[in-house]
Amino acid sequence: MPKAIIIYESKFGNTKRAGETIIEGMKESGVEAVLSTPKELDEKQLADFDAIVVGSPTHMGGATRGIRKFIDKLGKLNLEGKMVAFFDCHASPEPGKAVGKMEKQLGEKAPGLKLVSPGLSLRVEGMRGPLSDGELPKCKEFGLAIANQLQG
Ligand SMILES: Cc1cc2nc3c(=O)[nH]c(=O)nc-3n(C[C@H](O)[C@H](O)[C@H](O)COP(=O)(O)O)c2cc1C
Repeated sequence: MPKAIIIYESKFGNTKRAGETIIEGMKESGVEAVLSTPKELDEKQLADFDAIVVGSPTHMGGATRGIRKFIDKLGKLNLEGKMVAFFDCHASPEPGKAVGKMEKQLGEKAPGLKLVSPGLSLRVEGMRGPLSDGELPKCKEFGLAIANQLQG
């Protein structure tokens, strides 16, 4: 059975909720998936997963520092060929910019990983959320789509 890990940071819980819902979609499609923050993660574990999905709240127009540091490290861990996908949460009405920046950073720092594009950008209501109406179903679909690619 393919395995995926969601690496996230979340100040108010919305990015975590999105990650949990992505996992629900993956599990429905027969992919085993777990959730971890960069701090909780033992990086040696990453070798066990077929897909690494990375989620961040948008802070100052980009991903959090912890997530940026994690993406930098991905290039140094011999993870060539693994699938990577990104999602962000953002409060502004315009689509979030963090996903695009994380994708660009991956291309620069870890070009051997396979990017699933486009990433998912989710709107939250104000700073603290909750996720806006209609965003959680998108998470589930995103999880299903990644799971289907892993099995295809
Ligand atoms: C320090 C800080 C900076 C932020 N900067 C932005 C920003 O540049 N653009 C934006 O759309 N939202 C911004 N926000 C709102 C966050 O995107 C929002 O709190 C987050 O998506 C909620 O996710 P979380 O519950 O996982 O923390 C900022 C929030 C904080 C705390």
